[in-house]
Amino acid sequence: MSGVKLIHHVNVQISDRQRTRDWYEKALGAKFLDRGQFNQRQLQLRIGTGEMHFSETSDPVCIGHFAVEVDNWAETLANLDRMEIAYTRTPGTTNPGPPRTPEDTPYQGRREDNGEHYTYVYDPDGNMIELVHHPLGLEDSAGNDVELADISRGLRWKQKESTTASG
Ligand SMILES: [Fe+2]
Repeated sequence: MSGVKLIHHVNVQISDRQRTRDWYEKALGAKFLDRGQFNQRQLQLRIGTGEMHFSETSDPVCIGHFAVEVDNWAETLANLDRMEIAYTRTPGTTNPGPPRTPEDTPYQGRREDNGEHYTYVYDPDGNMIELVHHPLGLEDSAGNDVELADISRGLRWKQKESTTASG
């Protein structure tokens, strides 16, 4: 049966390309994708194993939220703190209610079944992003450990040479 291999990209609306690029690069380690002439249409960034495409508009409409897996939870939160980016366990409410697990705080949560860490941030246009980290990792249906693609190698989709010159 045919199936999906991975989520290729998520598209969200933004109001300022440079501000968005700076924020995603600094807050989430995103990488600018030089797509030559196609960059005129939208901002495209690599974010982990996927891509984000950003359509610029004067009045962005924000989606519900999307989630990204980060590779180091403590470093991610420390970076958010340095950037003075607020994060919360319970977005959209000023009354977070009681913690559901012993490790829940108003700022982040921890699920009991898989040890997932999670919290929520907003990009400069108000798009909500859930940050998650699964310290136990991934496994296949037989219980074998599965590694994700090594994003430190600067992965990108191959592009025909004729389209790579900026113009
Ligand atoms: Fe979610």
